[in-house]
Amino acid sequence: MDAGPSSRRWSSVACPRMDLDTLRDDYDRVADTYVALGVAELDGKPWLRSVLTAFAEQVRDRGDVLDVGCGPGQVSAFLADLGVDVRGVDLSPRMVEQARRRFPALRFDVGSATAVDVPDGSLAGVLGWWSLFHLPRPLLPGVFEGWARALRPGGLALMGFHVGDGEQQRTEAYGGVPVSWTTYRWQPERLAELLTAVGLTVEVEQRFTEPWGSQVVIAARRRAVGAAAT
Ligand SMILES: C[S@@+](CC[C@H](N)C(=O)[O-])C[C@H]1O[C@@H](n2cnc3c(N)ncnc32)[C@H](O)[C@@H]1O
Repeated sequence: MDAGPSSRRWSSVACPRMDLDTLRDDYDRVADTYVALGVAELDGKPWLRSVLTAFAEQVRDRGDVLDVGCGPGQVSAFLADLGVDVRGVDLSPRMVEQARRRFPALRFDVGSATAVDVPDGSLAGVLGWWSLFHLPRPLLPGVFEGWARALRPGGLALMGFHVGDGEQQRTEAYGGVPVSWTTYRWQPERLAELLTAVGLTVEVEQRFTEPWGSQVVIAARRRAVGAAAT
């Protein structure tokens, strides 16, 4: 899945350098605690596992899958166990170190959702599993546009977001680690509009109620060649 000559950077929206640097440092500080606390592990989360299992059935044997913002790698590993040809990228080098340590058979690289180089039409699937919620709102359309380009016809995007309006500023996370970040909540309807605008068709919006707030997983597909427009 190396970038070939036809590869393009998939976000057309520049991300302020400083924001990414701060976020990278924050997640580098958070990474070890994130793993130690097991906050994002899939054990005991049957509904999330069921969504990922359905995704795996849709993308398996159809090509490469990219887990964008893979963190310490457990979602990539879950999919790989189901036969998916997946690799992960994450902004935080420490998260990538953790992923490589925990799942040495899989490939993980440092990279940003705003500038991932993959050839157009090369991916069977792409994930943003609670990894895009720090992006300032104007940047999300550019990332989705890149996804739409990177997916092959019939390819599937899967993403998780915090539901709501507005932003939340945080000064500590995951057991008191100091951070300086913004969580952007999204209404699923608005996400669906953005995905539709880049040519993806929303197939599923699955809501989850968690103690820390309402969550949504959305699956959206690039239309297969020859499929009727809706
Ligand atoms: C809440 S964690 C989720 C990680 C993983 N998807 C999981 O389920 O455990 C958010 C992750 O997104 C990564 N991230 C945040 N902004 C990113 C960006 N612009 N590009 C790539 N990764 C990013 C962070 O480094 C962090 O690992």
